[in-house]
Amino acid sequence: MEILILPGDGIGPEITQAARACLEAANRRFGLGLDLVEREIGLPALEKHGSTIPSDVLEHARRADGVVLAPLSTFEYPPASEGGINPSAAVRTGLDLYANVRPAWTRPGVPSLAPSMDLVVVRENTEGFYADRNMALGSGEFMPTPDLAMSVRKITREGCTRIARAAFELAMRRRRKVTAVHKANVLKVTDGLFLECVRKVATDYPQVTLDTVIVDAMAALLVRKPGAFDVIVTTNMFGDILSDEAAELAGGLGLAPSINHGDRHGVAQAIHGSAPDIAGQGIANPTALILSVGMLLEWLGARNDRNDMAAAAGAIRAAVDAVVQDDAVRTPDLGGSGTTEGYGRAVAAAIAG
Ligand code: NAI
Ligand code: MG
Repeated sequence: MEILILPGDGIGPEITQAARACLEAANRRFGLGLDLVEREIGLPALEKHGSTIPSDVLEHARRADGVVLAPLSTFEYPPASEGGINPSAAVRTGLDLYANVRPAWTRPGVPSLAPSMDLVVVRENTEGFYADRNMALGSGEFMPTPDLAMSVRKITREGCTRIARAAFELAMRRRRKVTAVHKANVLKVTDGLFLECVRKVATDYPQVTLDTVIVDAMAALLVRKPGAFDVIVTTNMFGDILSDEAAELAGGLGLAPSINHGDRHGVAQAIHGSAPDIAGQGIANPTALILSVGMLLEWLGARNDRNDMAAAAGAIRAAVDAVVQDDAVRTPDLGGSGTTEGYGRAVAAAIAG
């Protein structure tokens, strides 16, 4: 199997190196037979090839068995017409990765704002308000006059149904509780359709409890009783925002992994951005990307009936759980005095056993 690694911008290359060391350790210990291939994207690719994600890299991602996508400085990119394509959007739409699965949980020995929580935000990933991916042609944002800006939010029955199914499937393997987050009190048509689809899918999962919560209340409830939630399913932008909130409650953005998946492709991706404020200092926390790699192995293992991959995913999680407690090794965002490289080395050594 081939895993394509895309190091990204800002802290991307630093945390990718640490995550790659962990993946190599897992590959060796469990004899996974993975080929790791690295390709450049982001600002370096823009300079050399005129695009932040050259089309052959996107093709390569489609051919690979799995992809590790590091964060990108998308806010600094020029317009798409000048090569500034958001690689996250290109990969998510190009590989039809409709589910962005973002777990957030508290850990022993790691400071967190929430006393105890263990939830997963299942975020629709290909439509909603995201103007760079919700249109077949053109942009979902436009300017009819210089003083009028508009954006279109796309919600489809198919998109809502498949994200709901992903959430209920996940809930069946967890505590069997789904919370659908919406704003159907105001967005009656779009979020009304979303809720209709979620409720329809729910009838196939009688063992799972379904609650619905309006998004602004959800922002408050996450702070008030974070331990009350299991699987949260929602549309693209609400999921983007609530997953950062959940991550911060559980210990910080540097710990928060995710997988983007559809029916055929899986892409590991930390939920945070390229953190330009700390890039190049060697202090970024690589945990989120390391755990994302673990989620990718778990997903590949389940799809391919590969127990060795499931075991490797478990070993990555266990290694992080052990090393992240050590103040001398963990990074400054967690109050530690460690470095990206040293932490990555320690986790890789723990994976190697
Ligand atoms: P950010 O997530 O990069 O940073 C927010 C804060 O969290 C900063 O203080 C940063 O230092 C800290 N932080 C994030 N990850 C960390 C880590 N691993 N270790 C330690 N501290 C960490 O969000 P921001 O600053 O809004 O965006 C920066 C750039 O990233 C922008 O260009 C934005 O467009 C892009 N971005 C890219 C994403 C992606 O490629 N998936 C996702 C979100 C933002
Ligand atoms: Mg985000």
